Amino acid sequence: MNSRVEKVLNEQIEKESSSSTFYLAMASWAESKGLSGTATFLYAHSDEERFHMLKLVKFVNERGGTAIIPGITTPPSEFDSLSNVFELLLSHEVSVTESINNLVDVCLQEKDYTTHNFIQWYVSEQLEEEALARTILDKVRMIGDDNAGLYLFDRDLENSAIQPDSVNNATAGV
Ligand code: FEO
Repeated sequence: MNSRVEKVLNEQIEKESSSSTFYLAMASWAESKGLSGTATFLYAHSDEERFHMLKLVKFVNERGGTAIIPGITTPPSEFDSLSNVFELLLSHEVSVTESINNLVDVCLQEKDYTTHNFIQWYVSEQLEEEALARTILDKVRMIGDDNAGLYLFDRDLENSAIQPDSVNNATAGV
C-alpha cells in the first residue's frame, strides 16, 4: 500500500475512533440528565463511528498495510446544554468531512484509485451525517426552553437512532 495513503488512512482511523468516544461521552451525559431518547440516539451514533473505524482497519490490513489502533483520549464528561452537545457534534462532523476530503485528495495525487473508490462510501456517509446533525441542531434551537417540546424531541430522537451496520459487513464491497 502506498505509504502516504496508509498514513492518512491511519489518521482517519484515529478520527473515527475519537468520534466514537466523543459521542459515547455525550450519550452518557444525556442519559444522566434523563434524556433517554437522546442517549439512545447518541449511543447508536457512537457504535456507528466504531463501525467506520473498523471498516478502515480491515481495509488497510487487507491491502497489505498496517492499521494502527489509537489510544483513547478522555472526552469531556460535562456539556453546557443539549444545544451545546449538538453544536459540538456538528462541528466534529464538519472536521471529519474535511479529513475525508483530504484523504480523497491524497488518493488522487498518489493515483491510488482502489482506495479512492473505497473512500467514496465515507464521502456519502458524511453528507448524510452532516445533514442529520444540522436538522437536529435546528430543532434543538427551535425548542429552546420549552419542556413539552423537549419531551417530544427526545422521544422522536429515540425513533431516529441510527441502526449500526454489522461489523461482519465491514469489508462488504471492498
Ligand atoms: Fe464517521 Fe461521523 O464520521
